[in-house]
Amino acid sequence: MPIQISERGQQMPASPIRKLVPFADEAKRRGTHVYHLNIGQPDIESPDLALSSLQRLERKVIAYSHSQGEPGYIDALLGYYNKLGFALERPHINVTTGGSEAILFSLLVTMNPGEEVLIPEPFYTNYNAFARVAGVTIRPITTRVEDGFHLPPSADMESLIGPKTRAVMLCNPSNPTGTVYTREEMDRVIALAEKHNLWLLCDEVYREFVFDSSASSYRSLLERTDIAERVVVMDSISKRYSMCGARLGCVVSRNEEVMAAVLKLAQARLSSPQVEQWMAQAAHAMPDDYLPSVLEEYRQRRDVVYTALQSMEGVTCRQPEGAFYTIPELPIDNAETFAKWLLTDFSYEGATVMVAPAAGFYATPGLGMQQIRIAFVLEVNALKKAMTLLQRALQTYQDTQMS
Ligand SMILES: Cc1ncc(COP(=O)(O)O)c(C=O)c1O
Repeated sequence: MPIQISERGQQMPASPIRKLVPFADEAKRRGTHVYHLNIGQPDIESPDLALSSLQRLERKVIAYSHSQGEPGYIDALLGYYNKLGFALERPHINVTTGGSEAILFSLLVTMNPGEEVLIPEPFYTNYNAFARVAGVTIRPITTRVEDGFHLPPSADMESLIGPKTRAVMLCNPSNPTGTVYTREEMDRVIALAEKHNLWLLCDEVYREFVFDSSASSYRSLLERTDIAERVVVMDSISKRYSMCGARLGCVVSRNEEVMAAVLKLAQARLSSPQVEQWMAQAAHAMPDDYLPSVLEEYRQRRDVVYTALQSMEGVTCRQPEGAFYTIPELPIDNAETFAKWLLTDFSYEGATVMVAPAAGFYATPGLGMQQIRIAFVLEVNALKKAMTLLQRALQTYQDTQMS
């Protein structure tokens, strides 16, 4: 009998976002320009202070850093959080290798195998992979495009809570929906967590990207010192400083036991990348107007995407409130077939667009079949062209379907 990989290895979900990559590569080989609206890799330049810090690198050895993180970098993070008004101290932060590791560590230290975590769907697909590694089951809280993917009534959410439910996990602002939860809905989630003694895990890697800073939108669970014991926040500099490749994130919690357990996991993997922590520390010295200027750039892109989507017949979409994504519903039967067709059969003036079919962001089978996720990670002019292409493609696709 041939030797076999583990069940976990076999069952690991493949990334639905990358499924179409071979078709995009083939389109490029044919000479078609592909506008990538499918992945969240920002095109914004990384902060110059981070890049120039590399030139001052005087070390002769790239050593392990502390498992908790480089002390200077932790201080920079503390400065960042303190400026936002969150009183945190060193033991409340553990640097991780990307927000990805922060998600994995948070699940591992709060939940036992076999337990359930409630997560609003559609959700960031890699939660599936991390949940599988941690042996926990995702119970989806279904949200709808018509509601801008805001949360359903509390009773609907409560009906999902059973004896195995241990946590609620949110992504705010949300990838993939662009939703920013309101104070009212966050208060409802907090009330449920308190009533049923659940952890509140919040992925806040898009914290800066909130387009409407009105008081009704929720900024961070770190504000809530009154429920600090049950709050674990997952963070990252990948999007904030456009430093995805630096692979740096952190777990933030005021719960001492959580942080002690996270540190043990961090010690097992020794350390996060050291050079990148120096770079990230330098990024935190960017002037105060840096992040608002990045937000303004994303706001313009959001406006381009939303205006274009509104003008497309039969498309349902609410205005994205944050992050740099949106999920519109299209007047088509199957978004995966359409997304593939865009790469294999469509081009206009030598170009096409790549989008992510949204079904892969849902846990409930059959949902999201007519939806795509658009990431607005291109500059405004390229984005305008991409949206024009999408509009033309939709018309052509519908015509070919009818003929
Ligand atoms: C919602 C969300 N959480 C976490 C991550 C992972 O970020 P990192 O690059 O820091 O691992 C991403 C990356 O796209 C994301 O969109």
